Amino acid sequence: MIAETPKNKPRFRLHPVALLNSDRLRRSLVETYERKGNFKYFIGVVLLILSIASLFYTNDLVDKLEEREEREVRLYGEGLRYIVNSPDDENFTVIMGVIQDAVTFYQIPVIYVDENNFPIHRNINFPKNASLRDKERIIEAQLVKMKSEHIPVPVQIGEGKTGYIYYSNSFLLTQLRYYPFVQLTVMLLIGYLAYLAFSAARKAEQNRVWVGLAKETAHQLGTPLSSLMAWVEYFRSDPNIDSSIADEIEKDVVRLEMITTRFSNIGSVPTLKQESVSTIVTSFITYLQKRVSSKVHFFIHDQLSEGQTALLNKNLFEWVVENICKNAVDAMSGIGEIHVTLQAPPNSKQILIDIQDTGKGMTKANANKIFNPGFSTKKRGWGLGLTLAKRIIEDYHGGKLFVKSSEVGKGTTFRILIPAKIAEEVIPED
Ligand SMILES: Nc1ncnc2c1ncn2[C@@H]1O[C@H](COP(=O)(O)OP(=O)(O)OP(=O)(O)O)[C@@H](O)[C@H]1O
Ligand SMILES: [Mg+2]
Repeated sequence: MIAETPKNKPRFRLHPVALLNSDRLRRSLVETYERKGNFKYFIGVVLLILSIASLFYTNDLVDKLEEREEREVRLYGEGLRYIVNSPDDENFTVIMGVIQDAVTFYQIPVIYVDENNFPIHRNINFPKNASLRDKERIIEAQLVKMKSEHIPVPVQIGEGKTGYIYYSNSFLLTQLRYYPFVQLTVMLLIGYLAYLAFSAARKAEQNRVWVGLAKETAHQLGTPLSSLMAWVEYFRSDPNIDSSIADEIEKDVVRLEMITTRFSNIGSVPTLKQESVSTIVTSFITYLQKRVSSKVHFFIHDQLSEGQTALLNKNLFEWVVENICKNAVDAMSGIGEIHVTLQAPPNSKQILIDIQDTGKGMTKANANKIFNPGFSTKKRGWGLGLTLAKRIIEDYHGGKLFVKSSEVGKGTTFRILIPAKIAEEVIPED
């Protein structure tokens, strides 16, 4: 890094976001998330109400149409009765036309049966080349079906004898009965697709904001850091200033540089390298142990075999471990134990990292919200640590981060899953 001399030290410009009241910003983050959730439920309820209303309305139409079809069948029955009971020489052309129209108009399938005659049918569909025997079989099958659907309409044919008209619902009525279910399915499908498209667009927008903010922060930090480095060199060159002061300041500057690198990594597509998970976690926990209260004890249970690697961005991965461990320290008010267990279950292509604390734990309701940006139960918390951690693990490393278990008053365990990468074998040359 090129250090600037303190004399031409540029003026420190603060990013506008840093000037915002943190509480207000956090609240607005939380509100955005809650609003989004409420809107989703609102749309869901509206869809449900519309579907139920449509179901009731169509059912009402179906009932009315069914009544009308029954009336038409009775009219057809009346016509038949008239014809059967009239003298043979009467002209039935007109009356036949009228009564057949009754069922033909609505395409109601009907079969009239009495003791003497071959069944008379209307609106029964037969295959094109059906033989007489085929037709008889179809009519028999239709009769069985019709008997189960409607009470037949009786037709008095004289001498105390009765014929019966069996009938089915018209095709239109059958369609209408199933229509609301088809409509509901289509509506739900459209709703679901719209939701997917909407949330993909929102996620892409959120990503742009994150990336932009991170890049800008890294950029803004770069300038004062160069300047601080120059001050360190200046103190070192002055024999009147204790050199240990310069050493201490340098440590802090190095730490600030690490933070800047993290921001710059999250602001661009980070490069992943094949790394030993044990080495990274162990050395970072050793580093952390020195920086937290001496009453917090770290224990590492490393069950990984040698050479167990994963594709990692060291900087960002350490940030995740740091966020989770710092939360753990906060949760136990400075006294307690943090157990970090590393394992790779047999036949699993993943490496598991469990970070377990003996802190105050959390309720189920809170556990569901901790990954939402802005959710914090701390006085000075931003509620961003876990959001970033999840994003780093899931979006950049293709892994998973979740609360494995938590019990109020006992502690919490976070689990990180990272795809394992088998160490590439080195083939010895002959
Ligand atoms: N180990 C833990 N035990 C109990 N509660 C936890 C633990 N880790 C996280 N939490 C809860 O999750 C909340 C969100 O954590 P997160 O790290 O995202 O934000 P934060 O620590 O409040 O603020 P910051 O942005 O500074 O990290 C915390 O405020 C806390 O209530
Ligand atoms: Mg935190």
